[in-house]
Amino acid sequence: WKRFLQVTGSVTLVTVATGGALYYVAQKDRTPGPQLPHDPTKKTLVILGSGWGATSLLNSLDTVDYNVIVISPKNYFLFTPLLPSVAVGTLSPRSILQPTRYVTRHKKRQVTVIEASATDVDPTTKTVTFADTSEIQGLVSTTTIPYDYLVFAVGAEVQTFNIPGVREHACFMKELEDAEKMQRRFLDCLESAAFPGQSTEEIKRLLHMVVVGGGPTGVELSGELHDFLEQDLRSWYPELAEHVRISLVEALPSVLPMFSKQLIDYTESTFKEAKIDILTKTMVKEVRDKSVVLQLPDKSIAEVPCGLVVWAAGNTLRKVTRDLMAKFPDVQTNRRGITVDECLRMVGSNGSIFAIGDCTATSYAPTAQVASQEGAYLARVLAQLAKKDEAEARLRELQAQSADALSPEAKEEREQIEKRLAKLEKVRPFKYSHQGSLAYIGSDKAIADLPFFNGNLATGGVATFLFWRSAYLSTLFSMRNRILVATDWLYVKLFGRDVSRE
Ligand code: FAD
Ligand code: NAI
Repeated sequence: WKRFLQVTGSVTLVTVATGGALYYVAQKDRTPGPQLPHDPTKKTLVILGSGWGATSLLNSLDTVDYNVIVISPKNYFLFTPLLPSVAVGTLSPRSILQPTRYVTRHKKRQVTVIEASATDVDPTTKTVTFADTSEIQGLVSTTTIPYDYLVFAVGAEVQTFNIPGVREHACFMKELEDAEKMQRRFLDCLESAAFPGQSTEEIKRLLHMVVVGGGPTGVELSGELHDFLEQDLRSWYPELAEHVRISLVEALPSVLPMFSKQLIDYTESTFKEAKIDILTKTMVKEVRDKSVVLQLPDKSIAEVPCGLVVWAAGNTLRKVTRDLMAKFPDVQTNRRGITVDECLRMVGSNGSIFAIGDCTATSYAPTAQVASQEGAYLARVLAQLAKKDEAEARLRELQAQSADALSPEAKEEREQIEKRLAKLEKVRPFKYSHQGSLAYIGSDKAIADLPFFNGNLATGGVATFLFWRSAYLSTLFSMRNRILVATDWLYVKLFGRDVSRE
Protein backbone atom coordinates (compact mmCIF):
# COMPACT_ATOMS: atom_id res chain seq x y z
CA TRP A 1 0.00 0.00 0.00
CA LYS A 2 2.79 2.37 0.92
CA ARG A 3 4.50 1.73 -2.44
CA PHE A 4 1.18 2.08 -4.29
CA LEU A 5 0.45 5.41 -2.58
CA GLN A 6 3.97 6.63 -3.35
CA VAL A 7 3.61 5.80 -7.05
CA THR A 8 0.09 7.25 -7.46
CA GLY A 9 1.19 10.30 -5.44
CA SER A 10 4.13 10.92 -7.78
CA VAL A 11 2.01 10.37 -10.89
CA THR A 12 -0.64 12.79 -9.59
CA LEU A 13 2.03 15.34 -8.72
CA VAL A 14 3.62 15.14 -12.19
CA THR A 15 0.18 15.33 -13.88
CA VAL A 16 -0.90 18.33 -11.81
CA ALA A 17 2.44 20.10 -12.36
CA THR A 18 2.36 19.49 -16.15
CA GLY A 19 -1.32 20.48 -16.34
CA GLY A 20 -0.62 23.59 -14.28
CA ALA A 21 2.32 24.61 -16.46
CA LEU A 22 0.28 24.06 -19.63
CA TYR A 23 -2.63 26.00 -18.17
CA TYR A 24 -0.31 28.89 -17.23
CA VAL A 25 1.25 29.01 -20.73
CA ALA A 26 -2.16 28.76 -22.42
CA GLN A 27 -3.64 31.50 -20.22
CA LYS A 28 -0.68 33.77 -20.91
CA ASP A 29 -1.27 33.20 -24.62
CA ARG A 30 -5.02 33.68 -24.34
CA THR A 31 -4.99 36.97 -22.53
CA PRO A 32 -2.51 39.33 -24.16
CA GLY A 33 -1.97 42.59 -22.31
CA PRO A 34 -2.30 46.18 -23.52
CA GLN A 35 -0.01 47.30 -26.35
CA LEU A 36 1.66 50.59 -27.24
CA PRO A 37 -0.36 52.48 -29.87
CA HIS A 38 1.07 53.39 -33.29
CA ASP A 39 3.50 56.28 -33.01
CA PRO A 40 3.38 58.96 -35.75
CA THR A 41 7.13 59.60 -35.34
CA LYS A 42 7.93 56.00 -36.32
CA LYS A 43 8.24 54.71 -39.85
CA THR A 44 5.52 52.55 -41.38
CA LEU A 45 6.47 48.98 -42.16
CA VAL A 46 4.00 47.15 -44.38
CA ILE A 47 4.30 43.36 -44.58
CA LEU A 48 2.51 41.58 -47.44
CA GLY A 49 1.66 37.98 -46.59
CA SER A 50 1.15 35.83 -43.51
CA GLY A 51 3.06 32.73 -44.59
CA TRP A 52 6.43 31.33 -43.59
CA GLY A 53 8.50 34.40 -44.38
CA ALA A 54 6.12 36.99 -42.97
CA THR A 55 5.26 35.05 -39.81
CA SER A 56 8.86 34.30 -39.02
CA LEU A 57 9.61 38.02 -39.46
CA LEU A 58 6.70 38.95 -37.19
CA ASN A 59 7.80 36.48 -34.55
CA SER A 60 11.26 38.04 -34.33
CA LEU A 61 10.47 41.69 -35.09
CA ASP A 62 10.66 44.31 -32.36
CA THR A 63 7.47 46.20 -33.20
CA VAL A 64 8.44 49.10 -30.94
CA ASP A 65 10.64 50.32 -33.81
CA TYR A 66 7.87 50.65 -36.39
CA ASN A 67 4.17 51.09 -37.04
CA VAL A 68 3.57 47.66 -38.53
CA ILE A 69 0.73 46.77 -40.90
CA VAL A 70 0.24 43.19 -42.12
CA ILE A 71 -1.84 42.64 -45.25
CA SER A 72 -2.78 39.13 -46.33
CA PRO A 73 -5.85 37.47 -47.87
CA LYS A 74 -5.54 34.82 -45.13
CA ASN A 75 -5.74 35.99 -41.56
CA TYR A 76 -3.67 33.01 -40.50
CA PHE A 77 -0.37 31.22 -40.94
CA LEU A 78 -0.57 27.79 -42.59
CA PHE A 79 1.95 25.12 -41.62
CA THR A 80 2.35 23.75 -45.17
CA PRO A 81 4.54 20.69 -44.39
CA LEU A 82 1.55 19.01 -42.77
CA LEU A 83 -1.00 20.00 -45.42
CA PRO A 84 -1.02 16.56 -47.14
CA SER A 85 -1.99 15.07 -43.75
CA VAL A 86 -5.08 17.30 -43.74
CA ALA A 87 -6.01 16.10 -47.23
CA VAL A 88 -6.53 12.53 -46.01
CA GLY A 89 -7.94 13.41 -42.59
CA THR A 90 -4.90 12.50 -40.47
CA LEU A 91 -4.97 16.05 -39.11
CA SER A 92 -7.86 18.42 -38.79
CA PRO A 93 -7.44 21.72 -40.67
CA ARG A 94 -7.49 23.90 -37.55
CA SER A 95 -4.51 22.06 -36.09
CA ILE A 96 -2.06 23.48 -38.62
CA LEU A 97 -3.35 27.05 -38.66
CA GLN A 98 -2.23 29.85 -36.45
CA PRO A 99 -4.29 33.05 -36.54
CA THR A 100 -1.95 35.95 -37.31
CA ARG A 101 -3.51 37.98 -34.50
CA TYR A 102 -2.28 35.33 -32.02
CA VAL A 103 1.20 36.53 -32.95
CA THR A 104 0.60 40.24 -33.36
CA ARG A 105 -1.41 40.69 -30.15
CA HIS A 106 1.63 39.58 -28.19
CA LYS A 107 3.91 42.22 -29.67
CA LYS A 108 4.88 45.29 -27.65
CA ARG A 109 3.47 47.79 -30.12
CA GLN A 110 0.11 47.32 -31.81
CA VAL A 111 0.24 45.68 -35.24
CA THR A 112 -2.59 46.28 -37.70
CA VAL A 113 -3.74 43.10 -39.42
CA ILE A 114 -5.78 43.55 -42.60
CA GLU A 115 -7.40 40.62 -44.38
CA ALA A 116 -6.96 41.70 -47.99
CA SER A 117 -5.00 40.99 -51.15
CA ALA A 118 -2.41 43.49 -52.29
CA THR A 119 -3.28 44.35 -55.86
CA ASP A 120 -0.64 46.94 -56.64
CA VAL A 121 2.59 48.32 -55.25
CA ASP A 122 3.72 51.72 -56.48
CA PRO A 123 7.42 52.12 -55.69
CA THR A 124 7.43 55.74 -56.90
CA THR A 125 4.80 57.00 -54.47
CA LYS A 126 5.70 54.22 -51.98
CA THR A 127 2.11 53.05 -51.65
CA VAL A 128 0.29 49.72 -51.59
CA THR A 129 -3.23 49.22 -52.88
CA PHE A 130 -5.20 46.30 -51.49
CA ALA A 131 -8.69 44.88 -51.75
CA ASP A 132 -10.96 42.80 -49.58
CA THR A 133 -11.52 39.74 -51.73
CA SER A 134 -13.52 37.77 -49.17
CA GLU A 135 -17.20 36.83 -49.52
CA ILE A 136 -18.52 39.59 -47.28
CA GLN A 137 -17.39 43.17 -47.82
CA GLY A 138 -18.14 46.45 -46.12
CA LEU A 139 -18.78 49.76 -47.86
CA VAL A 140 -15.05 50.21 -48.30
CA SER A 141 -13.32 47.23 -49.85
CA THR A 142 -10.30 48.70 -51.56
CA THR A 143 -7.81 51.32 -50.42
CA THR A 144 -4.26 52.60 -50.77
CA ILE A 145 -1.80 53.26 -47.94
CA PRO A 146 1.74 54.64 -47.83
CA TYR A 147 4.77 52.72 -46.57
CA ASP A 148 8.32 53.60 -45.61
CA TYR A 149 9.51 50.01 -45.84
CA LEU A 150 7.68 47.19 -47.57
CA VAL A 151 8.29 43.50 -47.01
CA PHE A 152 7.06 41.54 -49.98
CA ALA A 153 6.37 37.96 -48.84
CA VAL A 154 3.40 36.84 -50.94
CA GLY A 155 4.78 33.38 -51.80
CA ALA A 156 3.95 31.69 -55.08
CA GLU A 157 1.01 29.98 -56.72
CA VAL A 158 0.60 26.62 -58.41
CA GLN A 159 2.26 26.19 -61.79
CA THR A 160 -0.17 24.73 -64.35
CA PHE A 161 1.89 25.46 -67.50
CA ASN A 162 -1.53 26.33 -69.02
CA ILE A 163 -2.09 22.63 -69.53
CA PRO A 164 -5.71 22.17 -70.59
CA GLY A 165 -8.16 21.04 -67.92
CA VAL A 166 -5.85 21.43 -64.91
CA ARG A 167 -7.70 24.34 -63.32
CA GLU A 168 -11.12 22.83 -64.13
CA HIS A 169 -10.61 19.21 -63.12
CA ALA A 170 -7.58 18.80 -60.85
CA CYS A 171 -7.15 19.55 -57.14
CA PHE A 172 -4.12 21.53 -55.96
CA MET A 173 -2.15 21.08 -52.74
CA LYS A 174 -1.07 24.58 -51.81
CA GLU A 175 -3.72 26.22 -49.63
CA LEU A 176 -5.91 24.88 -46.87
CA GLU A 177 -9.00 24.91 -49.08
CA ASP A 178 -7.10 22.74 -51.63
CA ALA A 179 -6.58 20.02 -49.02
CA GLU A 180 -10.21 20.25 -47.90
CA LYS A 181 -11.43 20.08 -51.48
CA MET A 182 -9.24 17.07 -52.18
CA GLN A 183 -10.51 15.26 -49.11
CA ARG A 184 -14.14 15.88 -50.12
CA ARG A 185 -13.51 14.66 -53.69
CA PHE A 186 -11.55 11.65 -52.54
CA LEU A 187 -14.34 10.54 -50.21
CA ASP A 188 -16.88 11.28 -52.95
CA CYS A 189 -15.00 8.92 -55.26
CA LEU A 190 -15.17 6.22 -52.58
CA GLU A 191 -18.91 6.71 -51.99
CA SER A 192 -19.67 6.80 -55.73
CA ALA A 193 -17.67 3.60 -56.19
CA ALA A 194 -19.74 2.04 -53.39
CA PHE A 195 -22.99 2.97 -55.16
CA PRO A 196 -24.99 -0.17 -55.93
CA GLY A 197 -24.76 -1.55 -59.45
CA GLN A 198 -21.50 0.22 -60.36
CA SER A 199 -19.55 -1.77 -62.97
CA THR A 200 -16.09 -3.04 -62.00
CA GLU A 201 -14.57 -0.87 -64.70
CA GLU A 202 -16.23 2.24 -63.28
CA ILE A 203 -15.24 1.30 -59.72
CA LYS A 204 -11.63 1.00 -60.90
CA ARG A 205 -11.82 4.39 -62.60
CA LEU A 206 -13.31 6.09 -59.56
CA LEU A 207 -10.68 4.56 -57.32
CA HIS A 208 -7.71 5.47 -59.49
CA MET A 209 -5.97 8.45 -57.83
CA VAL A 210 -3.42 10.26 -59.99
CA VAL A 211 -0.86 12.55 -58.38
CA VAL A 212 1.01 14.77 -60.84
CA GLY A 213 4.53 15.89 -59.87
CA GLY A 214 7.18 13.76 -58.20
CA GLY A 215 8.55 16.62 -56.09
CA PRO A 216 8.21 16.41 -52.30
CA THR A 217 4.55 17.56 -52.36
CA GLY A 218 3.49 14.80 -54.76
CA VAL A 219 5.52 12.14 -52.95
CA GLU A 220 4.23 13.07 -49.50
CA LEU A 221 0.66 13.18 -50.72
CA SER A 222 0.96 9.75 -52.40
CA GLY A 223 2.36 8.37 -49.12
CA GLU A 224 -0.51 9.85 -47.12
CA LEU A 225 -3.09 8.49 -49.58
CA HIS A 226 -1.55 5.06 -49.23
CA ASP A 227 -1.74 5.28 -45.40
CA PHE A 228 -5.41 6.12 -45.59
CA LEU A 229 -5.92 3.12 -47.81
CA GLU A 230 -4.05 0.71 -45.60
CA GLN A 231 -5.19 1.96 -42.26
CA ASP A 232 -8.80 3.00 -42.87
CA LEU A 233 -10.19 2.10 -46.26
CA ARG A 234 -9.69 -1.61 -45.61
CA SER A 235 -11.73 -1.27 -42.40
CA TRP A 236 -14.58 0.92 -43.62
CA TYR A 237 -14.83 0.01 -47.32
CA PRO A 238 -13.47 -3.56 -47.41
CA GLU A 239 -15.26 -4.29 -50.69
CA LEU A 240 -13.42 -1.43 -52.43
CA ALA A 241 -9.93 -1.78 -51.02
CA GLU A 242 -8.55 -4.10 -53.68
CA HIS A 243 -9.60 -1.74 -56.51
CA VAL A 244 -7.78 1.37 -55.28
CA ARG A 245 -4.74 2.45 -57.32
CA ILE A 246 -2.39 5.35 -56.80
CA SER A 247 -0.23 6.61 -59.70
CA LEU A 248 2.48 9.22 -59.28
CA VAL A 249 3.34 10.86 -62.60
CA GLU A 250 6.68 12.65 -63.01
CA ALA A 251 8.09 14.19 -66.18
CA LEU A 252 11.75 13.78 -65.10
CA PRO A 253 13.67 10.47 -64.95
CA SER A 254 13.24 10.23 -61.14
CA VAL A 255 11.17 11.54 -58.27
CA LEU A 256 12.59 13.83 -55.57
CA PRO A 257 15.57 15.15 -57.56
CA MET A 258 16.69 17.24 -54.55
CA PHE A 259 17.35 14.13 -52.42
CA SER A 260 20.37 11.83 -52.65
CA LYS A 261 20.30 8.85 -55.01
CA GLN A 262 20.16 6.44 -52.06
CA LEU A 263 16.97 8.07 -50.73
CA ILE A 264 15.39 8.23 -54.18
CA ASP A 265 15.96 4.46 -54.50
CA TYR A 266 14.59 3.91 -51.00
CA THR A 267 11.46 5.93 -51.79
CA GLU A 268 10.93 4.10 -55.06
CA SER A 269 11.24 0.69 -53.40
CA THR A 270 8.91 1.74 -50.54
CA PHE A 271 6.35 2.89 -53.11
CA LYS A 272 6.72 -0.35 -55.02
CA GLU A 273 5.96 -2.33 -51.85
CA ALA A 274 3.05 -0.01 -51.15
CA LYS A 275 1.76 -0.59 -54.68
CA ILE A 276 2.04 3.05 -55.65
CA ASP A 277 2.89 3.18 -59.37
CA ILE A 278 5.63 5.67 -60.19
CA LEU A 279 5.48 6.73 -63.83
CA THR A 280 8.68 8.64 -64.56
CA LYS A 281 9.57 10.30 -67.88
CA THR A 282 5.82 10.66 -68.27
CA MET A 283 4.17 13.99 -68.78
CA VAL A 284 0.56 14.97 -68.19
CA LYS A 285 -0.65 16.74 -71.32
CA GLU A 286 -4.28 17.25 -70.40
CA VAL A 287 -6.64 16.65 -67.51
CA ARG A 288 -10.17 15.67 -68.44
CA ASP A 289 -13.30 15.17 -66.37
CA LYS A 290 -12.75 11.43 -65.97
CA SER A 291 -9.20 10.86 -67.21
CA VAL A 292 -5.69 12.17 -67.69
CA VAL A 293 -3.88 12.28 -71.00
CA LEU A 294 -0.27 11.15 -70.63
CA GLN A 295 2.74 11.37 -72.87
CA LEU A 296 4.62 8.14 -72.16
CA PRO A 297 8.43 7.76 -72.25
CA ASP A 298 8.26 6.49 -75.87
CA LYS A 299 6.36 9.74 -76.74
CA SER A 300 3.12 7.87 -77.37
CA ILE A 301 -0.08 9.32 -75.92
CA ALA A 302 -2.38 7.40 -73.58
CA GLU A 303 -5.67 8.38 -71.99
CA VAL A 304 -5.90 6.90 -68.50
CA PRO A 305 -9.26 6.83 -66.68
CA CYS A 306 -9.20 8.11 -63.10
CA GLY A 307 -11.44 9.48 -60.35
CA LEU A 308 -9.16 12.12 -58.85
CA VAL A 309 -6.19 14.14 -60.09
CA VAL A 310 -4.01 16.06 -57.66
CA TRP A 311 -1.74 18.60 -59.32
CA ALA A 312 1.58 19.19 -57.53
CA ALA A 313 3.74 20.31 -60.44
CA GLY A 314 5.59 23.19 -58.77
CA ASN A 315 5.38 26.96 -58.32
CA THR A 316 4.95 30.05 -60.43
CA LEU A 317 4.84 33.77 -59.61
CA ARG A 318 1.68 35.55 -58.49
CA LYS A 319 0.31 38.37 -60.65
CA VAL A 320 1.07 40.99 -57.99
CA THR A 321 4.73 39.88 -58.05
CA ARG A 322 4.95 39.98 -61.84
CA ASP A 323 3.34 43.43 -61.84
CA LEU A 324 5.81 44.73 -59.26
CA MET A 325 8.77 43.34 -61.20
CA ALA A 326 7.47 44.96 -64.37
CA LYS A 327 7.96 48.33 -62.67
CA PHE A 328 11.73 47.73 -62.74
CA PRO A 329 12.08 46.42 -66.31
CA ASP A 330 15.83 46.98 -66.49
CA VAL A 331 16.84 45.08 -63.38
CA GLN A 332 13.97 42.69 -62.55
CA THR A 333 14.26 40.31 -65.46
CA ASN A 334 14.56 36.91 -63.76
CA ARG A 335 11.49 34.85 -64.67
CA ARG A 336 11.83 32.79 -61.49
CA GLY A 337 11.11 35.76 -59.23
CA ILE A 338 12.25 39.00 -57.64
CA THR A 339 15.99 39.63 -57.71
CA VAL A 340 17.26 40.70 -54.30
CA ASP A 341 20.69 41.75 -53.10
CA GLU A 342 22.62 39.97 -50.33
CA CYS A 343 20.53 41.82 -47.71
CA LEU A 344 17.21 40.81 -49.34
CA ARG A 345 16.52 44.30 -50.71
CA MET A 346 14.66 44.24 -54.01
CA VAL A 347 17.13 45.34 -56.65
CA GLY A 348 16.07 48.71 -58.07
CA SER A 349 13.89 49.73 -55.12
CA ASN A 350 16.47 51.95 -53.37
CA GLY A 351 16.27 49.86 -50.22
CA SER A 352 12.61 50.52 -49.46
CA ILE A 353 11.32 47.11 -50.59
CA PHE A 354 12.52 43.80 -49.16
CA ALA A 355 11.45 40.50 -50.68
CA ILE A 356 11.62 37.08 -49.05
CA GLY A 357 10.51 33.51 -49.66
CA ASP A 358 9.02 31.85 -52.70
CA CYS A 359 8.43 35.12 -54.61
CA THR A 360 12.19 35.69 -54.94
CA ALA A 361 14.78 34.24 -57.29
CA THR A 362 17.78 33.28 -55.17
CA SER A 363 20.24 30.43 -55.19
CA TYR A 364 18.16 28.68 -52.52
CA ALA A 365 15.24 26.29 -53.06
CA PRO A 366 11.76 27.70 -52.49
CA THR A 367 11.27 26.13 -49.08
CA ALA A 368 9.79 27.02 -45.71
CA GLN A 369 13.22 26.64 -44.19
CA VAL A 370 14.66 29.36 -46.42
CA ALA A 371 11.65 31.69 -46.06
CA SER A 372 11.63 31.45 -42.26
CA GLN A 373 15.38 32.07 -41.97
CA GLU A 374 14.99 35.05 -44.29
CA GLY A 375 12.14 36.39 -42.14
CA ALA A 376 14.17 36.10 -38.94
CA TYR A 377 17.18 37.72 -40.63
CA LEU A 378 15.05 40.59 -41.90
CA ALA A 379 13.83 41.30 -38.37
CA ARG A 380 17.48 41.93 -37.41
CA VAL A 381 18.08 44.11 -40.47
CA LEU A 382 14.97 46.16 -39.71
CA ALA A 383 16.07 46.63 -36.09
CA GLN A 384 19.42 47.91 -37.37
CA LEU A 385 17.67 50.19 -39.87
CA ALA A 386 15.49 51.63 -37.10
CA LYS A 387 18.62 52.44 -35.08
CA LYS A 388 20.22 53.99 -38.16
CA ASP A 389 17.14 56.08 -38.96
CA GLU A 390 17.02 57.30 -35.35
CA ALA A 391 20.72 58.21 -35.38
CA GLU A 392 20.37 60.01 -38.72
CA ALA A 393 17.42 62.02 -37.42
CA ARG A 394 19.40 63.12 -34.37
CA LEU A 395 22.42 63.96 -36.53
CA ARG A 396 20.23 66.11 -38.77
CA GLU A 397 19.01 67.97 -35.66
CA LEU A 398 22.58 68.60 -34.55
CA GLN A 399 23.71 69.55 -38.05
CA ALA A 400 20.87 72.06 -38.30
CA GLN A 401 22.59 74.10 -35.60
CA SER A 402 25.71 76.05 -36.59
CA ALA A 403 28.94 74.43 -35.43
CA ASP A 404 29.79 77.41 -33.18
CA ALA A 405 26.48 77.18 -31.36
CA LEU A 406 27.07 73.54 -30.41
CA SER A 407 28.10 72.82 -26.84
CA PRO A 408 31.17 70.56 -26.35
CA GLU A 409 28.75 67.80 -25.26
CA ALA A 410 26.73 68.22 -28.46
CA LYS A 411 29.92 68.09 -30.55
CA GLU A 412 30.97 64.94 -28.71
CA GLU A 413 27.51 63.47 -29.33
CA ARG A 414 27.75 64.30 -33.04
CA GLU A 415 31.07 62.51 -33.34
CA GLN A 416 29.68 59.50 -31.50
CA ILE A 417 26.66 59.39 -33.80
CA GLU A 418 28.83 59.63 -36.90
CA LYS A 419 30.93 56.71 -35.67
CA ARG A 420 27.78 54.72 -34.84
CA LEU A 421 26.31 55.47 -38.24
CA ALA A 422 29.41 54.21 -39.98
CA LYS A 423 28.93 50.91 -38.13
CA LEU A 424 25.17 50.78 -38.73
CA GLU A 425 25.71 51.39 -42.42
CA LYS A 426 27.22 47.93 -42.75
CA VAL A 427 24.49 45.30 -42.92
CA ARG A 428 25.60 41.73 -42.56
CA PRO A 429 24.46 39.73 -45.63
CA PHE A 430 21.92 36.93 -45.34
CA LYS A 431 23.46 33.50 -44.97
CA TYR A 432 21.29 30.44 -45.26
CA SER A 433 22.04 27.56 -42.95
CA HIS A 434 20.67 24.33 -44.38
CA GLN A 435 19.27 22.11 -41.64
CA GLY A 436 18.55 19.20 -43.98
CA SER A 437 15.63 17.93 -46.04
CA LEU A 438 12.91 15.72 -44.67
CA ALA A 439 9.97 14.08 -46.39
CA TYR A 440 7.27 11.64 -45.33
CA ILE A 441 6.83 8.76 -47.79
CA GLY A 442 3.96 6.82 -46.17
CA SER A 443 3.88 3.44 -44.40
CA ASP A 444 5.24 5.19 -41.26
CA LYS A 445 8.51 5.90 -43.07
CA ALA A 446 10.30 9.13 -43.82
CA ILE A 447 13.53 10.11 -45.55
CA ALA A 448 16.08 12.66 -44.39
CA ASP A 449 19.14 14.22 -45.97
CA LEU A 450 20.90 15.86 -43.05
CA PRO A 451 24.13 17.85 -42.95
CA PHE A 452 26.42 15.92 -40.64
CA PHE A 453 29.98 16.88 -39.66
CA ASN A 454 30.65 18.61 -42.99
CA GLY A 455 29.20 15.60 -44.77
CA ASN A 456 25.73 14.31 -45.41
CA LEU A 457 23.66 11.74 -43.56
CA ALA A 458 21.03 10.08 -45.72
CA THR A 459 18.57 8.05 -43.73
CA GLY A 460 15.17 6.52 -44.24
CA GLY A 461 12.76 4.33 -42.32
CA VAL A 462 10.62 4.17 -39.22
CA ALA A 463 13.16 5.89 -36.93
CA THR A 464 13.41 8.71 -39.47
CA PHE A 465 9.61 8.90 -39.41
CA LEU A 466 9.68 9.45 -35.62
CA PHE A 467 12.39 12.08 -36.17
CA TRP A 468 10.21 13.67 -38.91
CA ARG A 469 7.25 13.84 -36.54
CA SER A 470 9.24 15.30 -33.65
CA ALA A 471 11.01 17.78 -35.96
CA TYR A 472 7.73 19.11 -37.33
CA LEU A 473 6.10 19.12 -33.92
CA SER A 474 8.86 21.32 -32.59
CA THR A 475 8.84 23.54 -35.70
CA LEU A 476 5.16 24.38 -35.25
CA PHE A 477 5.06 27.99 -34.15
CA SER A 478 2.86 27.65 -31.07
CA MET A 479 2.18 25.38 -28.11
CA ARG A 480 -1.50 25.37 -29.13
CA ASN A 481 -0.68 23.88 -32.57
CA ARG A 482 1.70 21.35 -31.05
CA ILE A 483 -1.00 20.09 -28.71
CA LEU A 484 -3.62 19.98 -31.47
CA VAL A 485 -1.36 18.08 -33.89
CA ALA A 486 -0.16 15.61 -31.24
CA THR A 487 -3.78 15.01 -30.18
CA ASP A 488 -4.86 14.41 -33.80
CA TRP A 489 -2.07 11.85 -34.27
CA LEU A 490 -3.15 10.07 -31.11
CA TYR A 491 -6.82 10.24 -32.11
CA VAL A 492 -6.13 8.68 -35.52
CA LYS A 493 -4.00 5.97 -33.93
CA LEU A 494 -6.85 5.08 -31.55
CA PHE A 495 -9.96 5.59 -33.67
CA GLY A 496 -8.80 5.88 -37.28
CA ARG A 497 -9.51 8.71 -39.72
CA ASP A 498 -12.95 10.20 -40.02
CA VAL A 499 -14.52 9.14 -43.32
CA SER A 500 -17.66 11.29 -43.09
CA ARG A 501 -17.92 13.66 -46.02
CA GLU A 502 -18.80 17.26 -45.14
P1 FAD B 1 3.83 31.38 -48.20
O1 FAD B 1 4.12 30.63 -46.96
O2 FAD B 1 3.10 30.70 -49.30
O3 FAD B 1 3.06 32.70 -47.78
C1 FAD B 1 2.57 33.61 -48.70
C2 FAD B 1 1.58 34.49 -47.99
O4 FAD B 1 1.20 35.57 -48.85
C3 FAD B 1 0.29 33.76 -47.64
O5 FAD B 1 -0.10 34.13 -46.35
C4 FAD B 1 -0.68 34.26 -48.68
O6 FAD B 1 -2.02 34.22 -48.21
C5 FAD B 1 -0.20 35.69 -48.85
N1 FAD B 1 -0.60 36.32 -50.11
C6 FAD B 1 -0.89 35.75 -51.29
N2 FAD B 1 -1.23 36.70 -52.19
C7 FAD B 1 -1.16 37.88 -51.55
C8 FAD B 1 -1.41 39.22 -51.94
N3 FAD B 1 -1.81 39.54 -53.18
N4 FAD B 1 -1.26 40.20 -51.01
C9 FAD B 1 -0.86 39.90 -49.75
N5 FAD B 1 -0.61 38.66 -49.34
C10 FAD B 1 -0.74 37.65 -50.23
N6 FAD B 1 9.07 23.60 -47.32
C11 FAD B 1 9.94 23.05 -46.44
O7 FAD B 1 11.00 23.62 -46.20
N7 FAD B 1 9.66 21.87 -45.83
C12 FAD B 1 8.51 21.21 -46.04
O8 FAD B 1 8.28 20.15 -45.48
C13 FAD B 1 7.56 21.78 -46.93
N8 FAD B 1 6.40 21.15 -47.17
C14 FAD B 1 5.50 21.71 -48.03
C15 FAD B 1 4.31 21.04 -48.27
C16 FAD B 1 3.39 21.57 -49.14
C17 FAD B 1 2.11 20.85 -49.39
C18 FAD B 1 3.66 22.79 -49.79
C19 FAD B 1 2.65 23.39 -50.73
C20 FAD B 1 4.85 23.45 -49.58
C21 FAD B 1 5.79 22.92 -48.70
N9 FAD B 1 7.00 23.54 -48.45
C22 FAD B 1 7.90 23.00 -47.57
C23 FAD B 1 7.34 24.79 -49.13
C24 FAD B 1 6.95 25.98 -48.24
O9 FAD B 1 5.60 25.91 -47.87
C25 FAD B 1 7.16 27.29 -48.97
O10 FAD B 1 8.48 27.34 -49.45
C26 FAD B 1 6.90 28.45 -48.02
O11 FAD B 1 5.54 28.49 -47.72
C27 FAD B 1 7.33 29.78 -48.63
O12 FAD B 1 7.06 30.80 -47.71
P2 FAD B 1 6.56 32.23 -48.20
O13 FAD B 1 6.43 33.07 -47.00
O14 FAD B 1 7.41 32.70 -49.31
O15 FAD B 1 5.15 31.95 -48.86
P1 NAI C 1 8.54 20.71 -57.34
O1 NAI C 1 8.80 21.82 -58.26
O2 NAI C 1 9.58 20.31 -56.38
O3 NAI C 1 8.14 19.41 -58.16
C1 NAI C 1 7.20 19.43 -59.20
C2 NAI C 1 7.47 18.26 -60.12
O4 NAI C 1 6.41 18.17 -61.07
C3 NAI C 1 8.76 18.41 -60.91
O5 NAI C 1 9.60 17.32 -60.61
C4 NAI C 1 8.31 18.43 -62.36
O6 NAI C 1 9.19 17.72 -63.20
C5 NAI C 1 6.96 17.74 -62.28
N1 NAI C 1 6.06 18.13 -63.37
C6 NAI C 1 5.80 19.38 -63.81
N2 NAI C 1 4.90 19.35 -64.82
C7 NAI C 1 4.59 18.06 -65.02
C8 NAI C 1 3.72 17.41 -65.92
N3 NAI C 1 2.97 18.07 -66.80
N4 NAI C 1 3.62 16.07 -65.87
C9 NAI C 1 4.36 15.38 -64.96
N5 NAI C 1 5.20 15.95 -64.08
C10 NAI C 1 5.31 17.27 -64.11
O7 NAI C 1 7.15 21.09 -56.61
P2 NAI C 1 6.64 20.74 -55.15
O8 NAI C 1 6.78 19.31 -54.83
O9 NAI C 1 5.29 21.34 -55.03
O10 NAI C 1 7.62 21.56 -54.20
C11 NAI C 1 7.70 22.98 -54.28
C12 NAI C 1 8.78 23.47 -53.33
O11 NAI C 1 8.39 23.20 -51.99
C13 NAI C 1 10.12 22.77 -53.55
O12 NAI C 1 11.16 23.68 -53.37
C14 NAI C 1 10.17 21.75 -52.46
O13 NAI C 1 11.50 21.50 -52.04
C15 NAI C 1 9.36 22.40 -51.34
N6 NAI C 1 8.73 21.33 -50.57
C16 NAI C 1 9.51 20.71 -49.65
C17 NAI C 1 8.99 19.65 -48.93
C18 NAI C 1 9.87 18.95 -47.98
O14 NAI C 1 11.00 19.36 -47.76
N7 NAI C 1 9.41 17.89 -47.34
C19 NAI C 1 7.59 19.20 -49.10
C20 NAI C 1 6.88 19.91 -50.13
C21 NAI C 1 7.45 20.95 -50.82
